[in-house]
Amino acid sequence: MNVLVAGSHGQVGQHVTGMLAESDHEVRGMVRDESQVSDIEDLGAEAVVADLTEDVTHAVRGCDAVVFAAGSGGEDVLGVDRDGAINIIETAEEQGADRFVMLSSINADSPEESPEALREYLNAKAEADERLRETELTYTIVRPGALTNEEGTGRIRTGADLDRDDSEIPREDVAETLVTALPMESTYERTFEVLAGTEPIAEALENPLNEE
Ligand SMILES: NC(=O)c1ccc[n+]([C@@H]2O[C@H](COP(=O)([O-])OP(=O)(O)OC[C@H]3O[C@@H](n4cnc5c(N)ncnc54)[C@H](OP(=O)(O)O)[C@@H]3O)[C@@H](O)[C@H]2O)c1
Repeated sequence: MNVLVAGSHGQVGQHVTGMLAESDHEVRGMVRDESQVSDIEDLGAEAVVADLTEDVTHAVRGCDAVVFAAGSGGEDVLGVDRDGAINIIETAEEQGADRFVMLSSINADSPEESPEALREYLNAKAEADERLRETELTYTIVRPGALTNEEGTGRIRTGADLDRDDSEIPREDVAETLVTALPMESTYERTFEVLAGTEPIAEALENPLNEE
């Protein structure tokens, strides 16, 4: 597959880009700044400079799939996490991509369960997720808990509404979840939460909603 990684230079995005580049996929990493191009090339991917708040047609053209790992970091929540995400979702559909894997967030559907400061962000993520579900794209929406920089374990737990006792997950495991989900039909048209756990990632993704 030809895969575009949005947010390729981010912390999750760099893991995603490196993992995809080591696989059979052709990878294009989208960055905002020319100075980030060499880092993406060092990961084994082609780089494209584009901004989610502007036209991204040139970045998406020719891609079969998009993995969205970008985020505002709180700087321009509506412009990036909502409108920027919707911009690339709609462009992917227009350009004939088939597949879209979205890095969303736990509590995107229940912002009231999070501190007030996060609610605008969670609502923005929910709106982008909803727009993605309305398209013809084959989507997977992955909703992790709090991201850490611990080394990945390769093990997770997934479900529609996980208990939040330990609500963290290493970025590396989130990245592996996004990459592993990409070709897995069991994750198509699914929205699920993901936290650190005990099940190998590929096994957990065979039944991401833990359905009977
Ligand atoms: N932090 C958490 O606990 C948590 C929990 C659940 C979900 N998430 C989601 O996971 C995402 C990724 O996390 P992370 O730690 O990898 O974030 P990160 O390191 O801040 O990476 C975000 C990437 O998005 C890029 N970006 C920002 N605005 C853009 C724009 N207008 N156009 C194109 N690219 C843009 C950034 O580019 P630059 O490199 O140029 O800044 C950066 O590379 C977060 O943004 C959030 O939505 C986070």
